[in-house]
Amino acid sequence: MMKNASLRQLKVFESVARNLSYTRAAEELYLTQPTVSIQIKQLSEIVGQPLFEQVGKRIYLTDAGSELLKVCREILEGLSRFEMYISDIKGVKTGKLRLAVITTAKYIIPRILGQFCQRFPGIDVSLKVTNRERVLQRMHENLDDIYIFGNPPDNIDVHTEIFMENPLIVLASSKHILSKEKNIVPERLADEYFIIREPGSGIRLSTDQFFAEHNVKIKVRMELGSNEAIKQAVAAELGIAVLSAHTMVSDWNSEELAYLDVRGFPIRRQWYLTYPRDKQQSVVALAFMDFMHKEGSAIGKKYLQGIPSFPISR
Ligand code: PGA
Repeated sequence: MMKNASLRQLKVFESVARNLSYTRAAEELYLTQPTVSIQIKQLSEIVGQPLFEQVGKRIYLTDAGSELLKVCREILEGLSRFEMYISDIKGVKTGKLRLAVITTAKYIIPRILGQFCQRFPGIDVSLKVTNRERVLQRMHENLDDIYIFGNPPDNIDVHTEIFMENPLIVLASSKHILSKEKNIVPERLADEYFIIREPGSGIRLSTDQFFAEHNVKIKVRMELGSNEAIKQAVAAELGIAVLSAHTMVSDWNSEELAYLDVRGFPIRRQWYLTYPRDKQQSVVALAFMDFMHKEGSAIGKKYLQGIPSFPISR
């Protein structure tokens, strides 16, 4: 039956299924909404099952729709890998590179991508920056080529390469009483209020692990989903925070912020470049991995020189 489905119908279906919206799919594909609806209707007729169901104003994939989405992604990915392979044979790298990275990587990855895109002008890049849980979710849905984590996934078989150091520091207002103290014991922080990342964040996970290992129960004043917002809250003396040293790249000279000399910090962590081991990588994604190997960390370190005493060397 599926022999009668056209590639165009599958592309339209993939977009509606990903966006869970006919309107957004129509915008994305530069089509009218009635055209999108007709394509989906024809495809459901070919399948002989509804692909979406409507509850109130929202649409959801049916079981048949979810299965078809998996097949569609394989077909479309296979075709785009093939296109990239052909352009590689012709000696030009063209195609799309899709990256999903955790929030701390945004301080470095755009710099590296800048140079990568100059080297390979035919490559289009999409970069999704979000927290660990959502990057994991994207990996489950096979939405991107390469994923960057600070704590790599432990329940999926992934290819993993360490890319750079990503240490965690304790940040406080420079007016904070502890900012002048040396060798603070972690237990002392139980008296302080913390501004902390949301559950699902890798920073949150590592912070919780550290204090659990030291039997310290911290007091949380506020949970925020953004490293930048946390820095502002710390500067406003609302509390102290555990953040990646990278978030300080353009603030190290800030007169408002200080990093605390707490025993056990900086917590040594790394960034990991990962993808599911069974994923067939495109030529473009492999070119990116190769670029990261050969030049990525050097470019990254150059931009980190903005942090005078990058704490990992202490
Ligand atoms: P997060 O991850 O954005 O999920 O907190 C950042 C990191 O682990 O460095």
